[in-house]
Amino acid sequence: MRVNTRFRCLVALTAAISCLAAAPLAQAMGSGPKDDEGIKARIAPVAHLEMAGGATGASKGNRSGEELFKAVCIACHGTGVAGSPKFGDKDAWAPRIALGLDGLLKSATAGKNAMPPKGGSDANEVELARAIAYMANKAGANFKAP
Ligand code: HEC
Repeated sequence: MRVNTRFRCLVALTAAISCLAAAPLAQAMGSGPKDDEGIKARIAPVAHLEMAGGATGASKGNRSGEELFKAVCIACHGTGVAGSPKFGDKDAWAPRIALGLDGLLKSATAGKNAMPPKGGSDANEVELARAIAYMANKAGANFKAP
């Protein structure tokens, strides 16, 4: 008799727990792709931070143009600091693009006026060329990044 009472108690408890557990589960299961977007939006700042970390960390030496741009070049070229050709500004970039990727690589490597050598980065030549191509192509060029 005592065992039976205990058993019933256990059944009731289990039911209560599974009820509690089922609610968020049902919510998660019923929410579908729409909520996926919500999750993506919520983790986006973290995911973005990880990408930036990768740009300066793990993939150093083999960064994409976009990675190097976002890690370094954006500091000036993002807003056009100190007379730098602003990202996406076709008019500012047109006379630079006319120098060709090789010409730009030379001046960016050596530095030019307020532009420090390699933009102050530790990028290798390939990374630098990729970042230049990335910026220039966003402003109308059609450079092939190495
Ligand atoms: C400290 C600010 C600063 C940073 C950081 C910077 N630049 Fe610049 N950049 C400039 C300025 C200023 C100019 C314009 C120089 C001039 O023509 O007087 C310039 C010009 C350039 C040009 C055009 C050169 C030419 O011959 O006309 C290229 C290409 C370039 N930068 C690439 C880069 C790349 C790639 C990075 C990142 C790796 C970078 N820059 C980072 C300031 C910066």
